[in-house]
Amino acid sequence: MSLPERGEPRSRDSCLKYISVLTLVVQNALFVLGTRYVCTLPGDRFLATSAVVVTETLKLLTCVFVVLLQDGRASLYDSVVVRYVDTLRLLVPAFLYVLQNNLVYVAVSNLPAATFQVTYQLKILTTALFSVLILKRSLSRGQWGSLLLLFAGVAIVEVQQHGGGPPKEPAVDSSGQSPSVALLAVLACSVSSGFAGVYFEKILKGSTASIWVRNVQLGLFGTALGMLGVWWKDGAMVSVNGFFFGYTPMVWVVIFNNAFGGLLVAVVVRYADNIVKSLAMSLSCVISAVLSVYLFDFHLDLPFACGAAMVIVAICMYSTLHCSGFPNKVGHRRRNPTKVTV
Ligand code: C5P
Repeated sequence: MSLPERGEPRSRDSCLKYISVLTLVVQNALFVLGTRYVCTLPGDRFLATSAVVVTETLKLLTCVFVVLLQDGRASLYDSVVVRYVDTLRLLVPAFLYVLQNNLVYVAVSNLPAATFQVTYQLKILTTALFSVLILKRSLSRGQWGSLLLLFAGVAIVEVQQHGGGPPKEPAVDSSGQSPSVALLAVLACSVSSGFAGVYFEKILKGSTASIWVRNVQLGLFGTALGMLGVWWKDGAMVSVNGFFFGYTPMVWVVIFNNAFGGLLVAVVVRYADNIVKSLAMSLSCVISAVLSVYLFDFHLDLPFACGAAMVIVAICMYSTLHCSGFPNKVGHRRRNPTKVTV
């Protein structure tokens, strides 16, 4: 992967921006649909804890490769080992992301892909709240209103999911699915995503280390903590069936796609910003819902469509208000306030 230096032609950056955002839209839709597919297939089920470790390892190796290419071995050693106190700061987001990535498997196993996708947009609300609390950002009234609309849309989708009536997707296996467990898992994921994202941003902006170095540090802890998760939750299973039990080619595709998605988030934040990332996610919701109808016989009814539409409108409103540059605390207009340089 070759990354342009600062100051290279703008057109190349803008081209990369559109390519990375479009790729994120498709990747995110495939991430939810693919994960749902492999988690509900009858037969031998792979261990989600091991899938998280493989995903973290793939991301770590890619980031090490990029840092070696950009800065060389000495710089990598210096950033990660010599400045180990700085590296230790990544322990918190790494722990949260590992927990979150495990819980995503729990949530997607128990909830239709489209319902999960819409509910997971609550992370925009949690990111906003943590930005206010930790980064001392201020939100306009319109933004608070759009976050309320987002919450209401998710509530409609979830109340309908829990309110009886015909299942939104026909059962595909006999293990039984629990929407309540799924809801708790998505809520935990949303809180984790919001806090980890804001914490990561604070670390990034408070130092000169690139996002790739930070992701190496994140990946080191992520892989180690993920291994701890395998031992703690599935140690007995692994000793009997092995680490890669239940890994079909499709499971590998989903794992590679998840690792790719994690890195893509970093690239989108680099070439676009977090707001564009949120808009890409909302477009993914639409694609996931439509494809779910064909792939999983998803029952797309009026309350779901209304709730999902409210969430998408809320994200668009929130993002537009953010981009239009409402005055910040010191009176400057902010363009791309969450943009991170590499
Ligand atoms: O932003 P969000 O919480 O949706 O993150 C999605 C995924 O991106 C997480 O699974 C996390 O592991 C990954 N990620 C990453 N590197 C970052 C930020 C997020 O690998 N710098």
